[in-house]
Amino acid sequence: MTNADAAVIAPAAKATDPEILRRRTFAIISHPDAGKTTLTEKLLLFGGAIQLAGAVKARGERRRTRSDWMQIEQQRGISVTSSVMTFERNGIYYNLLDTPGHSDFSEDTYRTLSAVDAAVMVIDAAKGIESQTRKLFEVCRLRDIPIITFINKIDRPGEDPLTLLDDIASGLALDLVPMGWPIGMGPDFRGVVDLAGMRVLLPEEGERNAPFGRVVPIASLSDIAEIPGIDADIAARALEGVELAQGALSTFDLQAFREGHLSPVFFGSALRNFGVEQLLDALGNWAPGPLPRVAVQRTVYPGEDQVTGFVFKVQANMDPNHRDRIAFVRLCSGRFKRGMKLLHVRDGKYMTVSSPTLFFGQGRETADEAYAGDIMGLPNHGTLRVGDTLTEKEVLKFTGIPNFAPELLRRVIIEDAMKAKQLNRALDDLAEEGIVQVFTPIAGGRQILGVVGVLQFEVLQSRVKAEYGVPVSFEQAPVELARWISADDPAKLQKFVDAHRGEIATDRDGALVFLAESQWMLKYKGEKFPDIKFSALRERGE
Ligand code: G4P
Repeated sequence: MTNADAAVIAPAAKATDPEILRRRTFAIISHPDAGKTTLTEKLLLFGGAIQLAGAVKARGERRRTRSDWMQIEQQRGISVTSSVMTFERNGIYYNLLDTPGHSDFSEDTYRTLSAVDAAVMVIDAAKGIESQTRKLFEVCRLRDIPIITFINKIDRPGEDPLTLLDDIASGLALDLVPMGWPIGMGPDFRGVVDLAGMRVLLPEEGERNAPFGRVVPIASLSDIAEIPGIDADIAARALEGVELAQGALSTFDLQAFREGHLSPVFFGSALRNFGVEQLLDALGNWAPGPLPRVAVQRTVYPGEDQVTGFVFKVQANMDPNHRDRIAFVRLCSGRFKRGMKLLHVRDGKYMTVSSPTLFFGQGRETADEAYAGDIMGLPNHGTLRVGDTLTEKEVLKFTGIPNFAPELLRRVIIEDAMKAKQLNRALDDLAEEGIVQVFTPIAGGRQILGVVGVLQFEVLQSRVKAEYGVPVSFEQAPVELARWISADDPAKLQKFVDAHRGEIATDRDGALVFLAESQWMLKYKGEKFPDIKFSALRERGE
């Protein structure tokens, strides 16, 4: 059975169109340095989207020369932008959504995860679960996103596989089923046993880009010791784990995986191409096709005739020659055709979608057709915002795209007062991208900027300078916390606002925010005004 057959057979949320069923839209989550970039590159390589290893980084280099802020990324060795990479292999159409790895950019990551149907969790074999892995995992769990675990860098000295599995399973309260098992780790690394396929995958010296060097079928696990190049004592040590893992294989339950309770585990080395093809096959065979998406009004199924989608990300200035912004839209249902008129629900206006973009490997193409599960880039001049819903005519509002209350608040100092207008535009654009949140005090006065992590201020500073020509710096804001406020009774909310005009601001969407000078003050107000809800989370587009 090929991947495509499996995908068609797999029940994917009422869709019957094979084009929809063969879509796999996923993201890779990991702690910085675990190997996400390397793995992404290898997935693209085996997916035929790029021809040479190193191309993902090369692409990064080209992008980075564009503006100063990319240099931050380069200096720190982190990826701060998200993008989409599409490739096709064995009849499966993969949409890989890149997530920024640094914890400072978590909001962008959360939004990206709202647009996927599965995730690959990359874990460094020497480090096990790290802080960012845990955080991202929790987001996936909240959404019941199925997760495939890839334990990377087995070619380097790492934890013993059994200990690693134990730590991950207990640390994340997740059932794990190893699909393969490494023969030796670090300097003793000799290959991987593919348990389901009953074969051993061996490296071919010097062939860094070959999927696997040699594949040796085995009739029984003890055959491992007979394979030339695998010494008896390494085989003997591996065998204990291999036998245990094979015993666990029967507990693999596709349903539990798809519900997010159980994760199949691959041991591999992204750098040395081990486990990468197996991972792709697993995504093709087991990961769900496009899943239903919840809207305020109803649940939307991918197989529905009418096209629906939502904006989960906006990127400004992708092309420095045009002041366009690209809104990334996840299609939730239907078959999109170029030139279609779609209702921009928040605006109540129709827009003709004439030049949607799909992202193939390094290139972009104008899409004539796209299906539920696909990500389209729509160039626009700021009409489309994160959280916006597009439909053919129905009034729908997809949920699950959050804004988080910022952790740090600052005020911006502009060096050249003549550039205030450009600054406002820059802040507006970058707020839309999720780099910063902008709060405007209702009583007047300077805006207050909020971010999740301090690195965002650096990105903001260099992008505002590079892309809008406005040098700025930041100073401490007189407030410490921002909370969205609401109340069941509008009169009570108004009364609170009137009594606290100096402490109230609006966010970019006009929602009311209480700016507290301290945690203590927030608690005090919460107790004194029990009818007012102070919220650290807000759904976009509400
Ligand atoms: P990230 O995107 O998750 O931050 O990680 P990235 O892929 O950039 O990998 C971080 C480092 O780990 C890189 O080394 C990369 O080569 C290395 N690496 C990734 N996968 C493997 C693996 O399977 N085995 C081994 N041994 N190393 C791996 P670097 O020295 O920081 O960068 P570079 O100079 O190699 O590019």
